[in-house]
Amino acid sequence: MDIRAFNRRAWDKEVKKGNQWTVPVGPEVISAARQGKWEIILTPTKPVPRAWFPEDLSGCEVLCLASGGGQQGPTLAAVGANVTVFDNSPNQLAQDRFVAERDDLAITTVEGDMRDLSAFSDESFDLIVHPVSNCFVPEIQPLWDEAFRVLRHGSALLAGFNNPLLYLFDPEKEKEGVLQVRFSLPYSDLTSVTEDERRRLLRGGRADRFRAHPGRTDRRADHSRVCDLWLLRGYLPGRVDLRLLRFVHCHPCG
Ligand SMILES: C[S@@+](CC[C@H](N)C(=O)[O-])C[C@H]1O[C@@H](n2cnc3c(N)ncnc32)[C@H](O)[C@@H]1O
Repeated sequence: MDIRAFNRRAWDKEVKKGNQWTVPVGPEVISAARQGKWEIILTPTKPVPRAWFPEDLSGCEVLCLASGGGQQGPTLAAVGANVTVFDNSPNQLAQDRFVAERDDLAITTVEGDMRDLSAFSDESFDLIVHPVSNCFVPEIQPLWDEAFRVLRHGSALLAGFNNPLLYLFDPEKEKEGVLQVRFSLPYSDLTSVTEDERRRLLRGGRADRFRAHPGRTDRRADHSRVCDLWLLRGYLPGRVDLRLLRFVHCHPCG
């Protein structure tokens, strides 16, 4: 199964349907950002603390990673950053170009898979902003390795995550308001469900219903309460493990 192709089609469709993570910011957001009033979210509701960004973003090389949709990229470009938006969905990237054209912003868009950033040379960015999207790839390590490679040493990665507890419960029971643990973690739509359920998820073809890793949200649980936001300063290569947590600011979004 080609997960990347599946999710490309699924997110292209989500753009047509107006999924909230595909709706570009309005001109008023860009004009406020030009005057220094701005915020972005990388999880559903809580803005990233301003102190987590470099003090001066003008001229800062920012990679918005798996972050198409005309939201984070245009806002940061309006503040003066040199923004590259990287995403797997042509329609999502078109949203960024739409805002760039409408509001006269310079934004570079690049289509690709977040696990392969070979389009960029080593140490070419000062900051990566990465909204909740790595749940769409089956293995996350290549993403962290690539992020490390393209970041200048000592710079920062801001990443939103689904908290894995989102994937524990039986979706059918949740519809009845019952939280009953059914799955073990890590969850995957590929391997954790029955063959029948998997076929149904695939037929649905909806990005928010099919996740390679670690799982699904289906908007059943209150998504906004089970996301975390991390800032990794002086980002280190290798596994994201307990040693790395010493470098992490964690910002529960519930
Ligand atoms: C929830 S949206 C995040 C973007 C949105 N601007 C936001 O604020 O949350 C998830 C994004 O991940 C992208 N995506 C999914 N799989 C990807 C992959 N393998 N490589 C790059 N982007 C991917 C989707 O196309 C989609 O734009």
